[in-house]
Amino acid sequence: MLKIENLCKSFGSIKAVDDISFEVKRGEVFGLLGPNGAGKSTTISIISTLLPPTSGEILFEDNSIFKNPKNIRQKLGVVPQDIALYPTLTGYENLKFWGNIYGLKGTELKKRISEVADIIGLNGRLKDRVEKYSGGMKRRLNIGSALLHKPELLIMDEPTVGIDPQSRSHILDTVLGLNAQGITIIYTSHYMEEVENICSRICIMDEGKIIASGTQQELVELVKEKTQINIKLDNINEDLLNGFKSINGVFDAKIFEDMITLYGENGDTMLAEIISKVSEQKSKIQSIDVQKPNLEAVFLHLTGKALRD
Ligand SMILES: Nc1ncnc2c1ncn2[C@@H]1O[C@H](COP(=O)(O)OP(=O)(O)OP(=O)(O)O)[C@@H](O)[C@H]1O
Ligand SMILES: [Mg+2]
Repeated sequence: MLKIENLCKSFGSIKAVDDISFEVKRGEVFGLLGPNGAGKSTTISIISTLLPPTSGEILFEDNSIFKNPKNIRQKLGVVPQDIALYPTLTGYENLKFWGNIYGLKGTELKKRISEVADIIGLNGRLKDRVEKYSGGMKRRLNIGSALLHKPELLIMDEPTVGIDPQSRSHILDTVLGLNAQGITIIYTSHYMEEVENICSRICIMDEGKIIASGTQQELVELVKEKTQINIKLDNINEDLLNGFKSINGVFDAKIFEDMITLYGENGDTMLAEIISKVSEQKSKIQSIDVQKPNLEAVFLHLTGKALRD
């Protein structure tokens, strides 16, 4: 659906986007994950045709968006990172304003506002001024503004920043609901849990570059040796430790008080062997905790930095 090819954008000496390429397929929830300043919003502004690139090409349904920006503008909805609402107007008036911009009028607009209000769960509150809304409600209305013209592709730039967990989970459910209705979604975030939960494929950006991309499973494979298993045991001894070290896929094992920590390749296949070693040594497991590598670990592995400040 959307192909980004060797995209670059410089602001003076800052390379905000530095030769990135990726493809978004129709029907997917595509995640763009990266820390502050990675270049996510700049990439989105270029896709939205609000900002020209320094170089590179973007194809939407095989046509350059720079040659024919109208084509993508009609089919694209963008939820900006900075909330774009008029605080002194009501929720309804805000949606009406955005609907007018997309060329919607009269009964068609009214009907669509009501549909969108249902999707974002604000139907009872549209008569209130936006300045009286909570942070989460403003975020939801911000999403609604991008849905009025029924976009085929929805780009969401950090739509859950600064809101409570309940609103966050409402927004994530909304994203999945929209996707189930056939809308393709590009979801930008620096919260790896969100991206892990809802995205089928993910690009990790840092300092203008894509440092890794793939499904969550493929990305986590990059740090497969980092699975950690903590086992609390009744009876710890050197034989047990050495037994653990001999398990296929275990790189290292260490004793910490009443616990043995194993570092290995694949937690699932190691577990069965761990249990058999424990019974061989007539010990007993009190608790076992498997920590699989996540996207945070992938980012740390690739950049040496934490994803969040
Ligand atoms: N209009 C601009 N003028 C100059 N520099 C800019 C401009 N817009 C962005 N930048 C710079 O480009 C880099 C990438 O910024 P961008 O906003 O795309 O990052 P981001 O990944 O969206 O970060 P965040 O998570 O903080 O929103 C940053 O170093 C930023 O300072
Ligand atoms: Mg941004």
